Amino acid sequence: MVLRRSAPITVNAPPSDAQPSDALPSATAVRDLFDRIAPVYDTINAQLSGGLHRVWKRMAITWSQAQPGQTCLDLCCGSGDLALLLAERVGPTGQVYGLDFAVAQLAIAQQRAANHWPPLDIQWLEGDALDLPFAAATFDAATMGYGLRNLTDIPQGLRELHRVLKPGATAAILDFHQPQQPWMQGFQQWYLDQVVVPTATRHGLTAEYAYIAPSLERFPNGVKQVEIAHQVGFEQAIHYPVAGGLMGVLVVTR
Ligand SMILES: C[S@@+](CC[C@H](N)C(=O)[O-])C[C@H]1O[C@@H](n2cnc3c(N)ncnc32)[C@H](O)[C@@H]1O
Repeated sequence: MVLRRSAPITVNAPPSDAQPSDALPSATAVRDLFDRIAPVYDTINAQLSGGLHRVWKRMAITWSQAQPGQTCLDLCCGSGDLALLLAERVGPTGQVYGLDFAVAQLAIAQQRAANHWPPLDIQWLEGDALDLPFAAATFDAATMGYGLRNLTDIPQGLRELHRVLKPGATAAILDFHQPQQPWMQGFQQWYLDQVVVPTATRHGLTAEYAYIAPSLERFPNGVKQVEIAHQVGFEQAIHYPVAGGLMGVLVVTR
Protein backbone atom coordinates (compact mmCIF):
# COMPACT_ATOMS: atom_id res chain seq x y z
CA MET A 1 0.00 0.00 0.00
CA VAL A 2 1.52 3.31 -1.05
CA LEU A 3 1.03 5.95 1.57
CA ARG A 4 3.44 8.54 0.30
CA ARG A 5 2.32 11.56 -1.66
CA SER A 6 5.73 12.65 -2.89
CA ALA A 7 9.39 11.76 -2.56
CA PRO A 8 9.78 9.37 0.36
CA ILE A 9 12.42 9.51 3.02
CA THR A 10 12.01 5.80 3.58
CA VAL A 11 9.18 3.42 4.39
CA ASN A 12 8.24 0.02 5.66
CA ALA A 13 10.58 -0.25 8.60
CA PRO A 14 9.53 -3.35 10.54
CA PRO A 15 8.36 -2.85 14.12
CA SER A 16 11.25 -3.09 16.53
CA ASP A 17 10.92 -5.95 19.00
CA ALA A 18 14.52 -5.41 20.06
CA GLN A 19 13.94 -5.24 23.81
CA PRO A 20 10.94 -7.35 24.66
CA SER A 21 9.68 -7.49 28.21
CA ASP A 22 7.35 -10.01 29.80
CA ALA A 23 5.15 -7.18 31.07
CA LEU A 24 4.79 -5.52 27.67
CA PRO A 25 2.84 -6.54 24.60
CA SER A 26 5.17 -6.96 21.61
CA ALA A 27 5.43 -4.22 19.00
CA THR A 28 3.62 -6.50 16.58
CA ALA A 29 0.73 -6.94 19.03
CA VAL A 30 0.52 -3.15 19.52
CA ARG A 31 0.54 -2.56 15.77
CA ASP A 32 -2.13 -5.19 15.15
CA LEU A 33 -4.31 -3.71 17.89
CA PHE A 34 -4.18 -0.23 16.35
CA ASP A 35 -4.81 -1.61 12.89
CA ARG A 36 -7.91 -3.43 14.22
CA ILE A 37 -9.42 -0.44 15.99
CA ALA A 38 -8.65 2.05 13.16
CA PRO A 39 -12.21 2.15 11.69
CA VAL A 40 -13.73 3.38 14.97
CA TYR A 41 -10.68 4.98 16.63
CA ASP A 42 -11.74 8.60 16.01
CA THR A 43 -15.37 7.99 16.99
CA ILE A 44 -14.42 6.33 20.27
CA ASN A 45 -11.85 9.04 21.07
CA ALA A 46 -14.48 11.75 20.62
CA GLN A 47 -16.99 9.83 22.78
CA LEU A 48 -14.50 9.07 25.55
CA SER A 49 -13.09 12.58 25.92
CA GLY A 50 -16.24 14.55 25.09
CA GLY A 51 -14.12 16.17 22.37
CA LEU A 52 -11.58 17.40 24.94
CA HIS A 53 -8.74 15.46 23.34
CA ARG A 54 -8.79 18.06 20.57
CA VAL A 55 -8.21 20.83 23.12
CA TRP A 56 -5.29 18.91 24.65
CA LYS A 57 -3.87 18.27 21.19
CA ARG A 58 -4.03 22.00 20.38
CA MET A 59 -2.15 22.66 23.63
CA ALA A 60 0.53 20.19 22.51
CA ILE A 61 0.85 21.98 19.16
CA THR A 62 1.39 25.29 20.97
CA TRP A 63 3.97 23.72 23.32
CA SER A 64 5.86 22.21 20.34
CA GLN A 65 6.54 25.80 19.20
CA ALA A 66 5.99 24.80 15.56
CA GLN A 67 6.05 27.90 13.32
CA PRO A 68 4.95 28.69 9.76
CA GLY A 69 7.41 27.42 7.16
CA GLN A 70 9.00 24.80 9.40
CA THR A 71 9.58 21.07 8.89
CA CYS A 72 7.75 19.14 11.61
CA LEU A 73 7.15 15.53 12.66
CA ASP A 74 4.15 13.86 14.28
CA LEU A 75 5.29 10.54 15.75
CA CYS A 76 2.80 7.70 16.26
CA CYS A 77 0.42 9.84 14.24
CA GLY A 78 -2.42 7.29 14.12
CA SER A 79 -5.37 8.74 12.21
CA GLY A 80 -3.57 12.07 11.97
CA ASP A 81 -5.13 14.54 14.44
CA LEU A 82 -1.85 16.15 15.46
CA ALA A 83 -0.27 15.98 12.01
CA LEU A 84 -3.28 17.82 10.56
CA LEU A 85 -3.02 20.52 13.22
CA LEU A 86 0.74 20.79 12.64
CA ALA A 87 0.16 21.18 8.89
CA GLU A 88 -2.31 23.99 9.53
CA ARG A 89 0.27 25.61 11.80
CA VAL A 90 3.27 25.40 9.41
CA GLY A 91 1.17 26.45 6.42
CA PRO A 92 1.88 25.94 2.71
CA THR A 93 5.57 26.83 3.04
CA GLY A 94 6.15 24.23 5.75
CA GLN A 95 6.27 20.45 5.63
CA VAL A 96 4.81 17.85 7.97
CA TYR A 97 5.63 14.16 8.27
CA GLY A 98 3.25 11.77 10.06
CA LEU A 99 4.78 8.43 11.03
CA ASP A 100 3.09 5.31 12.40
CA PHE A 101 3.52 1.57 12.02
CA ALA A 102 -0.23 0.79 11.78
CA VAL A 103 -1.12 0.97 8.09
CA ALA A 104 -4.87 1.06 8.68
CA GLN A 105 -4.47 4.18 10.83
CA LEU A 106 -2.29 5.81 8.16
CA ALA A 107 -4.88 5.11 5.47
CA ILE A 108 -7.48 7.04 7.50
CA ALA A 109 -5.00 9.86 8.16
CA GLN A 110 -4.26 10.12 4.46
CA GLN A 111 -7.98 10.27 3.63
CA ARG A 112 -8.58 12.97 6.22
CA ALA A 113 -5.76 15.14 4.81
CA ALA A 114 -7.13 14.66 1.29
CA ASN A 115 -10.62 15.75 2.44
CA HIS A 116 -9.30 18.81 4.25
CA TRP A 117 -9.82 22.25 2.70
CA PRO A 118 -7.45 23.72 1.78
CA PRO A 119 -5.68 20.42 1.00
CA LEU A 120 -2.84 19.63 3.37
CA ASP A 121 0.36 18.22 1.91
CA ILE A 122 1.47 15.78 4.61
CA GLN A 123 3.94 12.95 4.07
CA TRP A 124 2.52 9.80 5.68
CA LEU A 125 5.15 7.21 6.47
CA GLU A 126 4.85 3.65 7.68
CA GLY A 127 7.75 3.32 10.08
CA ASP A 128 8.99 2.49 13.55
CA ALA A 129 9.28 5.24 16.16
CA LEU A 130 12.14 3.24 17.72
CA ASP A 131 14.19 3.31 14.52
CA LEU A 132 13.26 6.48 12.68
CA PRO A 133 13.86 6.73 8.93
CA PHE A 134 15.18 10.28 9.10
CA ALA A 135 18.62 11.84 9.13
CA ALA A 136 19.83 13.44 12.36
CA ALA A 137 18.74 17.03 13.01
CA THR A 138 15.93 17.05 10.42
CA PHE A 139 13.01 18.62 12.31
CA ASP A 140 12.26 22.08 13.71
CA ALA A 141 9.51 20.73 16.01
CA ALA A 142 7.67 17.50 16.77
CA THR A 143 4.60 16.12 18.49
CA MET A 144 3.51 12.72 19.75
CA GLY A 145 -0.03 12.04 20.98
CA TYR A 146 -0.77 8.96 23.09
CA GLY A 147 2.18 7.19 21.48
CA LEU A 148 4.92 7.24 24.12
CA ARG A 149 2.94 4.96 26.48
CA ASN A 150 2.56 2.43 23.67
CA LEU A 151 6.26 2.19 22.77
CA THR A 152 7.93 -1.06 23.78
CA ASP A 153 11.09 0.90 24.66
CA ILE A 154 10.35 4.44 25.88
CA PRO A 155 14.01 5.56 26.32
CA GLN A 156 14.79 4.39 22.77
CA GLY A 157 11.76 6.31 21.45
CA LEU A 158 12.95 9.50 23.17
CA ARG A 159 16.52 8.86 22.00
CA GLU A 160 15.34 8.66 18.40
CA LEU A 161 13.21 11.79 18.81
CA HIS A 162 16.26 13.61 20.21
CA ARG A 163 18.38 12.46 17.26
CA VAL A 164 16.00 13.73 14.56
CA LEU A 165 15.29 17.13 16.16
CA LYS A 166 17.52 20.05 15.28
CA PRO A 167 19.57 21.52 18.14
CA GLY A 168 17.23 23.86 20.06
CA ALA A 169 14.08 22.27 18.58
CA THR A 170 11.18 21.31 20.84
CA ALA A 171 8.78 18.36 20.95
CA ALA A 172 5.50 18.10 22.88
CA ILE A 173 4.41 14.62 23.95
CA LEU A 174 0.79 14.25 25.09
CA ASP A 175 -0.39 11.13 26.89
CA PHE A 176 -2.44 9.76 29.75
CA HIS A 177 -0.96 10.29 33.20
CA GLN A 178 -1.60 8.91 36.66
CA PRO A 179 -2.73 11.80 38.89
CA GLN A 180 -1.17 12.20 42.32
CA GLN A 181 -4.32 12.89 44.33
CA PRO A 182 -6.00 9.69 45.57
CA TRP A 183 -9.49 10.96 44.64
CA MET A 184 -8.35 11.70 41.10
CA GLN A 185 -6.76 8.24 40.92
CA GLY A 186 -10.12 6.81 42.00
CA PHE A 187 -11.90 8.85 39.36
CA GLN A 188 -9.47 7.64 36.70
CA GLN A 189 -9.98 4.00 37.67
CA TRP A 190 -13.78 4.48 37.63
CA TYR A 191 -13.56 6.20 34.24
CA LEU A 192 -11.47 3.39 32.73
CA ASP A 193 -13.69 0.63 34.15
CA GLN A 194 -17.11 2.25 33.82
CA VAL A 195 -16.77 4.52 30.78
CA VAL A 196 -13.90 3.37 28.55
CA VAL A 197 -14.49 -0.37 28.59
CA PRO A 198 -18.31 -0.20 28.23
CA THR A 199 -17.95 2.31 25.36
CA ALA A 200 -15.47 -0.01 23.65
CA THR A 201 -17.76 -2.97 24.30
CA ARG A 202 -20.55 -1.23 22.38
CA HIS A 203 -18.16 -1.24 19.41
CA GLY A 204 -17.20 -4.89 19.98
CA LEU A 205 -13.69 -3.91 21.14
CA THR A 206 -13.65 -4.73 24.89
CA ALA A 207 -10.24 -6.43 24.93
CA GLU A 208 -8.72 -3.82 22.66
CA TYR A 209 -9.54 -0.99 25.06
CA ALA A 210 -8.88 -2.95 28.26
CA TYR A 211 -5.17 -2.48 27.40
CA ILE A 212 -5.29 1.18 28.48
CA ALA A 213 -5.32 0.51 32.25
CA PRO A 214 -2.26 -1.78 32.33
CA SER A 215 -0.41 0.43 29.85
CA LEU A 216 -1.03 3.37 32.17
CA GLU A 217 0.18 1.42 35.22
CA ARG A 218 3.45 0.70 33.43
CA PHE A 219 3.82 4.25 32.11
CA PRO A 220 6.46 6.37 33.92
CA ASN A 221 5.00 9.38 35.74
CA GLY A 222 5.90 12.94 34.75
CA VAL A 223 8.94 13.13 37.05
CA LYS A 224 10.32 9.88 35.66
CA GLN A 225 9.58 10.98 32.06
CA VAL A 226 11.64 14.13 32.66
CA GLU A 227 14.45 11.99 34.09
CA ILE A 228 14.49 9.70 31.04
CA ALA A 229 14.41 12.70 28.67
CA HIS A 230 17.51 14.14 30.35
CA GLN A 231 19.21 10.73 30.29
CA VAL A 232 18.81 10.45 26.51
CA GLY A 233 20.28 13.91 26.00
CA PHE A 234 17.52 16.52 26.02
CA GLU A 235 18.79 19.88 27.24
CA GLN A 236 15.41 20.80 28.77
CA ALA A 237 12.47 18.66 29.83
CA ILE A 238 9.31 19.74 31.65
CA HIS A 239 6.16 17.73 32.30
CA TYR A 240 2.90 19.67 32.48
CA PRO A 241 -0.09 17.91 34.08
CA VAL A 242 -3.31 18.51 32.14
CA ALA A 243 -6.95 17.88 33.14
CA GLY A 244 -6.16 17.57 36.84
CA GLY A 245 -3.23 15.24 36.09
CA LEU A 246 -5.33 12.72 34.15
CA MET A 247 -3.27 13.72 31.12
CA GLY A 248 0.18 15.21 30.77
CA VAL A 249 2.39 16.87 28.20
CA LEU A 250 6.13 16.24 28.30
CA VAL A 251 7.87 19.17 26.59
CA VAL A 252 11.46 18.44 25.59
CA THR A 253 14.04 20.66 23.91
CA ARG A 254 17.17 19.32 22.28
C1 LIG B 1 -3.22 5.75 20.93
S1 LIG B 1 -2.70 5.87 19.25
C2 LIG B 1 -2.48 7.61 19.07
C3 LIG B 1 -2.77 8.11 17.68
C4 LIG B 1 -2.74 9.64 17.51
N1 LIG B 1 -1.42 10.17 17.77
C5 LIG B 1 -3.75 10.32 18.38
O1 LIG B 1 -3.34 11.07 19.25
O2 LIG B 1 -4.93 10.09 18.20
C6 LIG B 1 -1.05 5.29 19.37
C7 LIG B 1 -0.38 5.09 18.02
O3 LIG B 1 1.00 4.74 18.22
C8 LIG B 1 1.37 3.87 17.19
N2 LIG B 1 2.61 3.20 17.60
C9 LIG B 1 2.87 2.53 18.74
N3 LIG B 1 4.14 2.08 18.74
C10 LIG B 1 4.70 2.52 17.58
C11 LIG B 1 6.01 2.39 17.03
N4 LIG B 1 6.98 1.72 17.64
N5 LIG B 1 6.24 2.96 15.84
C12 LIG B 1 5.26 3.63 15.17
N6 LIG B 1 4.01 3.77 15.65
C13 LIG B 1 3.73 3.23 16.85
C14 LIG B 1 0.16 2.95 17.04
O4 LIG B 1 0.15 2.28 15.82
C15 LIG B 1 -0.99 3.95 17.20
O5 LIG B 1 -1.46 4.43 15.96
